[in-house]
Amino acid sequence: MVQEQFALEDNDFRKLSKLVMDTAGIVLSERKRAFIHGRLGRRLRALGLADFSQYCRLLETDDGDDELRNFINAVTTNHTSFFREAHHFDFLSRVIIPEFLSGNTTRLRIWSAGCSTGEEPYSIAMTLAAGPTALMERDIKILATDLDTNVIARGAEGAYELERAEGIPDAYRKRFTRLRDSKVVMNDELCRLITFVHLNLLGPWPMSGPFDIIFCRNVVIYFDKPTQRRLFDRYADLLRPDGWLIAGHSENLLGVCERFDLVGRTIYRRRR
Ligand SMILES: C[S@@+](CC[C@H](N)C(=O)[O-])C[C@H]1O[C@@H](n2cnc3c(N)ncnc32)[C@H](O)[C@@H]1O
Repeated sequence: MVQEQFALEDNDFRKLSKLVMDTAGIVLSERKRAFIHGRLGRRLRALGLADFSQYCRLLETDDGDDELRNFINAVTTNHTSFFREAHHFDFLSRVIIPEFLSGNTTRLRIWSAGCSTGEEPYSIAMTLAAGPTALMERDIKILATDLDTNVIARGAEGAYELERAEGIPDAYRKRFTRLRDSKVVMNDELCRLITFVHLNLLGPWPMSGPFDIIFCRNVVIYFDKPTQRRLFDRYADLLRPDGWLIAGHSENLLGVCERFDLVGRTIYRRRR
């Protein structure tokens, strides 16, 4: 057992928690101690280290930030699935797409922020590609970003185990995917719409926007309130007036940011 193999002293846990907070904004409470222990135990073994103190020293002296990247990849929670919180995709096709088509702009920009292994942006892409023909004649781009370099690489690959693809409605699976080496592979029509980029939400954002829709679901639950406040304020800056912000089921802007109106179940609209 990892727990027995490497002791994690309070002092080292505090150092690691601070590093995660400073780098990624993720709060590691005492309750996450066993989780950290398990995830990082694998790194210690891979590196041949004797204990967490050695690991902390390695991170402190890691000039190239190579281990910092592995460390951050190890502590992120990447749980996701196709068409997770399906009502958001229903809202996209029933409300957002018709409104966009009735307007006079041809450009649609969507950001999946904290996209994990890509199921979220591919679900968005399938919803769009299954929409009216006129929609796909427009200039549509989906930016998919995450802090974890491993999940971004998997998203860009666009190939999923059969069980993971079970959440894709049958009609979409037939139309937008094919089987290769027992994996469900996203087709070119979807891949053309999405660009996967490694990006820390706490750092600078190279894109200038404006975005029409930002999906940021099940990401800010790991952040403290001041970090959430700064992030939602930056989202409001980057969204067009009346742009949409889609949050996760347990996320709430109440008392965090007053630049949005709640218009649906965890669906917000930027005030003008
Ligand atoms: C639980 S997943 C949510 C995935 C997807 N949005 C969904 O709802 O299914 C949270 C993702 O946020 C990413 N994340 C956490 N902190 C981040 C940060 N500071 N910058 C960018 N992504 C971050 C994690 O790497 C993880 O992949």
